[in-house]
Amino acid sequence: MVDTSPVKVLHVVGARPNFMKVAPVMRAMASREGRFDQRLVHTGQHYDEAMSQVFFDELGIAAPDDNLEVGSGSHAAQTAEILLRFEPVLLAFRPDWLVVVGDVNSTMAATLVASKLGVRTAHVEAGLRSFDRGMPEEINRLVTDALADLLLTPSPDADANLRREGVPESRIRRVGNVMIDTLSRNLERARARQTPQRLGVEPRRYVYVTLHRPSNVDERGSLAAIVDCLVELSRRAPVVFPVHPRTRQRLADFSLVETLTAGGGVRLIEPVGYLDSISLAEAAACVLTDSGGLQEETTFLRVPCLTLRPNTERPITITEGSNRLTTVDRLRGDLAESMSRRLSAEELPCPALWDGKASERVADALLER
Ligand code: UD1
Repeated sequence: MVDTSPVKVLHVVGARPNFMKVAPVMRAMASREGRFDQRLVHTGQHYDEAMSQVFFDELGIAAPDDNLEVGSGSHAAQTAEILLRFEPVLLAFRPDWLVVVGDVNSTMAATLVASKLGVRTAHVEAGLRSFDRGMPEEINRLVTDALADLLLTPSPDADANLRREGVPESRIRRVGNVMIDTLSRNLERARARQTPQRLGVEPRRYVYVTLHRPSNVDERGSLAAIVDCLVELSRRAPVVFPVHPRTRQRLADFSLVETLTAGGGVRLIEPVGYLDSISLAEAAACVLTDSGGLQEETTFLRVPCLTLRPNTERPITITEGSNRLTTVDRLRGDLAESMSRRLSAEELPCPALWDGKASERVADALLER
């Protein structure tokens, strides 16, 4: 007899970059009527309205069935809280599959709980590697992929990384990039917001900056050097800089806010929601970031992107996209060059399977198992 009962899926999200990934996956599963019984858990790793709720509202994600409210803390404390609070939720629902996305502490902690309880886990965005274990996300990626049963990858480099680590072919499935599902679905809405115009900056003339990696902002020396660079840059082009809570705290701790804003060219604003971020990215002359998501979004949008990091777990955004790595020392020259090299879709096609249908392939993969 064929089993027609729905596949029980528990999704876990925790931090800002998770929300745009879970939205299309849940939508794709919901569209297969009667095939999935889905629940959503929010760990509460991110909790500010601007870091969490705004994404649920804009992307139409249903309210979480459970919020673990773990809040902030050291990596050990935050991870431990997720382990403790997630276990009873998982035991109560007993899903056929746990689905986790990305590389944040919530991704790794939920996977660890599930694997100890014998619940199968699918990791969306598996296989990415920066080969830099100084980056907390790299540890999360390694642990998650070592434990997950189904590794759903966005790009061939991810498949190659997993094979090199000895992962059997049967656990690897390339589905493409679910972030791009959300981006293609929401691009028109984002454009309509005219965020640059509302902020009073001229499209194609400003630089959109986001920086929050501990390696850039947690030490005074690095952050002060970045601040000097941004101030100098802002004499040539306006800088729009929505400030992540971690970065805001560090700028205050190191008394750098005044230096950064004195000239008036750097617009420090509160963290923006998804639509404003896409609106700002698409109309920018150049994006300067240390975010993973923006490297991919600018590749899709063909907007020049400079990533202020020594490495990236998303090399395809360099080899097939508009991204390049930079350093504080090279930033001035790289920015001047990047601002004059916007490419068209014909000149720079998108990576394969960044086609808006990755989440459909995620749903297919789970149904097949
Ligand atoms: C986390 C992720 C990172 C992701 C980033 C996106 C990990 C290891 N890191 O980093 O991969 O790129 O989210 O934002 O999972 N805070 C608030 N309000 C909030 C959340 C955080 O004020 O809603 C402050 C707290 O002071 C906290 C600090 O920001 O201590 C850092 O938050 P945390 O979740 O630990 O790491 P992120 O830097 O946000």
